[in-house]
Amino acid sequence: MAIRNIREIGEDVLTKKCKEVQEMTDRTRELIEDMIETMYEANGVGLAAPQVGVLKRIVVIDTTGEDLLVMINPRIVETSGEQTGYEGCLSVPGKTGVVTRPNYVKAVALDEEMQPFEVEGTELLARAICHELEHLDGHLYVEKVEGELKDVDELEEDGE
Ligand code: NI
Repeated sequence: MAIRNIREIGEDVLTKKCKEVQEMTDRTRELIEDMIETMYEANGVGLAAPQVGVLKRIVVIDTTGEDLLVMINPRIVETSGEQTGYEGCLSVPGKTGVVTRPNYVKAVALDEEMQPFEVEGTELLARAICHELEHLDGHLYVEKVEGELKDVDELEEDGE
């Protein structure tokens, strides 16, 4: 396993549409292991393959520190409700902004054995699934921010 370099806003690779994974290979397995390690090392709750420069439809998510989710070729099949709150991204370091997302999401994906599974999430997990899946189509949350993108430091000073 290895920590990979996290790509930042402005880099072309973050604006591309990713390709579906057709089969599990050693190379893809290694990518997933590296994504997991890179996400934890950066204290992130999610990471998508293009954030480490690979245009494959793979995301890893862990919103609690003990619920690791690996999603290959993920797709949202149902959403409901609404939540509005601050969001950030490892590819937009030091920044945060308000984004409205569904409060409930149901998604389908393949696991590391390429077996289909379904996942349901509310609140932070629903937000993370929406955020990470958008990376796979070349979109960043900053496109959806309501009001201004803020510095994380500035927000802490405001006591928010
Ligand atoms: Ni992100």
